[in-house]
Amino acid sequence: TRPLKVGIAGLGTVGASVIRILERRNETVAQRGGRPVEVAAVSARDRSKDRGVDVSRFTWFDDPVDLARSADVDCVVELVGGADGTALEVVRTALMQGKHVVTANKALLAKHGLDLAQLAEDKGGSIAFEASVAGGIPIIKTLREALPGNRVSRLYGILNGTCNYILSRMELEGLTFQECLKDAQRLGYAEADPTFDVEGFDTAHKLAILTSLAFGTRIDAEAIYVEGISSITPLDLAMAKELGFRIKLLGVAERTETGIEQRVHPTMVPKSSSIAQVMGVTNAITIDADAVRELTLIGPGAGGDATASAVVADIADVAAGLVQPLFGKSVDQLEGAPRAPMQRH
Ligand code: NDP
Ligand code: HSE
Repeated sequence: TRPLKVGIAGLGTVGASVIRILERRNETVAQRGGRPVEVAAVSARDRSKDRGVDVSRFTWFDDPVDLARSADVDCVVELVGGADGTALEVVRTALMQGKHVVTANKALLAKHGLDLAQLAEDKGGSIAFEASVAGGIPIIKTLREALPGNRVSRLYGILNGTCNYILSRMELEGLTFQECLKDAQRLGYAEADPTFDVEGFDTAHKLAILTSLAFGTRIDAEAIYVEGISSITPLDLAMAKELGFRIKLLGVAERTETGIEQRVHPTMVPKSSSIAQVMGVTNAITIDADAVRELTLIGPGAGGDATASAVVADIADVAAGLVQPLFGKSVDQLEGAPRAPMQRH
């Protein structure tokens, strides 16, 4: 059988881990995919950088858009990052040619998801994005594949590993916000621009994706009330503790009488609740739905290997031909967007 030829654009925290895992789990990936998966090409900015993985055996492209165009690549794995610019061009170029795309880029999907879904539909390609929300947790598969017998009423959780890591260490170890953020960056958890993490935008991007899948609505990251954690002080955490609470940055989407409401903000949760026990880079997502009642998924929300685990699952699905529309149904079947955001203050 013909192998699936993969091109990896972006060889940072996640990209390098994807190469390592594809090597290490070559056989299990081929079993799931029904054929071998072969890395054919790679691209990043700096060819000479040591990435802890040997990339000299793959065809190198200085420009990832050329990789996306290459006739030797069937499946383009976009791990460059950013809502626009290079990442968008890479994904568009691949889809224009009817190729399959795997991405971890929630900022891109939150902004251009509908257009990209339409392009994939028109040209016969696909976009898989398990890694874009909550790192190693299979939340996209769960929402798309495991719950057709349910009507979801609410979905909420900790969707940003960096913020949960910062809040946990500030509370437990008395470290400053800046010390914790630096460590999160060093460990590869934070976005290239960590403002996206700490101001709540990354959580909002992820929530927008989940809302669309859970409620069948058009994706709309603008219709989210967003407040981050940058103004949370050690005193806030200590006072919450004294009252028997912890502070968590939550993303919440729920059906209300006036439509689907989405919000992101720091929330006091009772210390005895299960969500309060979720510490460090771990994420947790709870889905309230009529048949399953309450379903919670907990796992690593960021980091190279955990995220690459989800990317590799998508690659194996592409190899197996298990591709589906981005939002689980075609763009013209999606319902209206969530309702307008609450007033910012
Ligand atoms: P990194 O910053 O570690 O890696 C980005 C890679 O893209 C680098 O290899 C960089 O090249 C390359 N790159 C950037 N700009 C260009 C360009 N213009 N042309 C060619 N190559 C370019 O990011 P991450 O691996 O952390 O994240 C990648 C994606 O995954 C992002 O969308 C992120 O949001 C998402 N994600 C990340 C998670 C994590 O835990 N880190 C978890 C879930 C999702 P070079 O190395 O040469 O500088
Ligand atoms: N910066 C993100 C986080 C990466 O910390 O959750 C995972 O999407």
